[in-house]
Amino acid sequence: MNIRVPFLDLKSHHASLSDEFNRVIRKVIDSSALAGGPFVEKFEQEFASYCDCQHAIGVGSGTEALWLSLLAGGIGPGDEVITVPNTFMATAEAITYCGARPVFVDVDERTYTMDPAGLEEVVSSRTKAIIPVHLFGQPADMDPILEFAREHGIVAIEDAAQAHGAKYKGRNVGTLGDAGCFSFYPGKNLGALGEAGAVVTNSLELQEKIRILRDHGQIRKYRHTAIGWNCRMDGIQAALLSVKLQHLDSWNSARRARALQYNQEFAELNDLITPLEAPYARHVYHIYAIRVQERDEVMWFLNEKGIQCGVHYPVPVHLQPAYRSLGYKKGDLPVSEQIALEFISLPIFPELTETQVNIVTLSLKEAMLTGATV
Ligand SMILES: Cc1ncc(COP(=O)(O)O)c(C=O)c1O
Repeated sequence: MNIRVPFLDLKSHHASLSDEFNRVIRKVIDSSALAGGPFVEKFEQEFASYCDCQHAIGVGSGTEALWLSLLAGGIGPGDEVITVPNTFMATAEAITYCGARPVFVDVDERTYTMDPAGLEEVVSSRTKAIIPVHLFGQPADMDPILEFAREHGIVAIEDAAQAHGAKYKGRNVGTLGDAGCFSFYPGKNLGALGEAGAVVTNSLELQEKIRILRDHGQIRKYRHTAIGWNCRMDGIQAALLSVKLQHLDSWNSARRARALQYNQEFAELNDLITPLEAPYARHVYHIYAIRVQERDEVMWFLNEKGIQCGVHYPVPVHLQPAYRSLGYKKGDLPVSEQIALEFISLPIFPELTETQVNIVTLSLKEAMLTGATV
């Protein structure tokens, strides 16, 4: 009989917190502070302090965090924003929703994050911002990226949606550029029990603009100084996030321990590439992605064994049908295209047990060593 190993198990993740969840939900309901308000302000202060930065602004999602950061940074129609194609669609969508054009640069073959060596080739007089993505919980190599941004006088916005608690040279991701954008989508390292996101920044000007934009451009009630949108964080999500934030470091440590166990188990397999933790990085393994040649066959084999896997992401953003009008074609960004064919994301979450990791590794070894895939 196969023992099922889920890709993610939110039920077990939340089990020990359910009394506290009920208590804080009751508190928010009793206070009626449901949209914005004191619970959001409390979480904003706690998250800013966790990230070791001046301001956090709670919003409705990571996508809104990116969009509002770009708007507040003055990005608009006619502008170009450099980012990577090896990311979730939202990174590029936020650029498009400002009226600007995403311009893609390839990623580094080992870290899967923005390759600074490709930046000079894609910059133009219209480039106004850059969005490195801390993909899978691995920080992008920020020093050369920020140097490039400074040289060209452009805004640097970090997409830290997958990297809560990750560090670059000892500093928290999200706080290195002009603004950092987090998603609290339920499956993230710090996830709400619904939708939520936040921007962190050390810029007073950016935080003021984002606070106004997230609330219909209101500087105070019914006084609208900008055209904004409704991007407020809701009170219940903020209160739940305050509870969960207290556990983030230990959850990240558990993810790292499981990643290490996987790495050790796979060290003997020549045809399998394990994720690298860059020398400058503290990786938080939102996703543990390996690379193999016969990806679809290996995945099929694991699924048959009851092991749930994912692919992040099967089609790079520059080749998505929605972006056909940008004119990219196959071969333009070869590293992103190649890794998209090879990635398999294995189960990883803080409650994943050593035994479950053993089940996954044994099945994978079976698939790789016995040629069970052919
Ligand atoms: C890299 C990246 N950017 C942005 C987002 C968007 O965040 P949200 O789903 O909260 O809008 C996500 C969420 O999956 C993401 O993984």
